[in-house]
Amino acid sequence: MAKSLEWNDEYCIGDDVIDEEHRNLFILANTIFQILNPEEEIDKIRPLLYKLYDYMKYHFDHEEAFMAKIKFQEFVFHKIRHSEIIDEMNTIMKSSHQISVLSEKLTEMMLKWVLKHILEEDFKMKSAIKILQQHREQLNPAAVLIEKTIQTF
Ligand SMILES: [Fe+2]
Repeated sequence: MAKSLEWNDEYCIGDDVIDEEHRNLFILANTIFQILNPEEEIDKIRPLLYKLYDYMKYHFDHEEAFMAKIKFQEFVFHKIRHSEIIDEMNTIMKSSHQISVLSEKLTEMMLKWVLKHILEEDFKMKSAIKILQQHREQLNPAAVLIEKTIQTF
């Protein structure tokens, strides 16, 4: 049976770019799930797995740069969790030679590692982002208003 992951806006942490990247991770995983059936050849799926892997790395690098920028206090711990997820993804790609095993491991990866990570760890950035936004509005209300006005066009 085909699996899919449904994005929910409640998963948003409050930064448009990071939220968009999280959404894209779901889209990429769903693209793989759609073709993960027993008749498919695993070699056809590999390029998509690499794409998901590369996007994960790209997103984690971006998220880490963002955490450094906002001086997020759990930065080091969070970075370690990212590298654990990448290691897990590496193991899946190297060891799964059967579609059924790959399907099971990828589902577990997306739910237990990626979604759990977004909801438990990325969510901790939510309050930091909110404080930062409030701070900006207090420091420079005119600039924030101009920015909001431009975005409405
Ligand atoms: Fe993260």
